[in-house]
Amino acid sequence: MKSLIVNGGINMSKRIVSVIVSSVVAFVAIFLFGNMNGNTVKAATTATGKVLVVYYSNSGTTEDAAKKIQKQTGGDLVKLRMSPNYPSNYDKLTKVSKRQIDKNIHPEILNKINMKKYKTILLGFPTWYQRPPMFINTFFDKYDLKGKTVVPFSTSMSSPMSVNRPYLKKMVQGKGINLQSGFRANSSKSINKYLKKNNLIK
Ligand SMILES: Cc1cc2nc3c(=O)[nH]c(=O)nc-3n(C[C@H](O)[C@H](O)[C@H](O)COP(=O)(O)O)c2cc1C
Repeated sequence: MKSLIVNGGINMSKRIVSVIVSSVVAFVAIFLFGNMNGNTVKAATTATGKVLVVYYSNSGTTEDAAKKIQKQTGGDLVKLRMSPNYPSNYDKLTKVSKRQIDKNIHPEILNKINMKKYKTILLGFPTWYQRPPMFINTFFDKYDLKGKTVVPFSTSMSSPMSVNRPYLKKMVQGKGINLQSGFRANSSKSINKYLKKNNLIK
């Protein structure tokens, strides 16, 4: 009987110790996990920094994409203005834009943008002649984007984003810009997929 009580006492103490140990383990785990989670969120916010969505659109498709991207990222939205402005007439536009390529013309961009406050820049343009329009050259001539991350996005009739990459790579050469692969922005699905994967959603 005595031994039963003693054994029962020992068993009870063991149970109490085990409850205390598991509570401490659970508490430490929750504390560490919570902190880790906090750090992850913090790191992502710092990595993204303040976001700029800057774009040009002639017939509205890239503008739609830019607005969706702005909403998702919570960034500032700026539409580029060129001088002379691109014609909205399709035939005239094809002539002007082709001539710029053939003559290596970098058309003037009129916007004054204070790039200092941005860490990540989403740069949107329509794909013209299987490449970025020539004002994208001007964009990289004009703004000092050293140390910043540039995420290009483009809309097109069918060309994939990859056609633009060799041109963009060349434009940023030696400028200390962190150029990302970017994405074709013709659908909400492709936009959301890229932004989510790259931790760019606000
Ligand atoms: C001058 C010109 C050249 C184009 N070249 C291509 C091209 O090479 N590949 C393609 O898929 N679409 C091409 N397009 C179609 C545009 O990329 C597409 O319509 C784009 O979404 C237009 O964007 P926006 O509405 O923002 O101006 C071209 C359009 C124009 C006006």
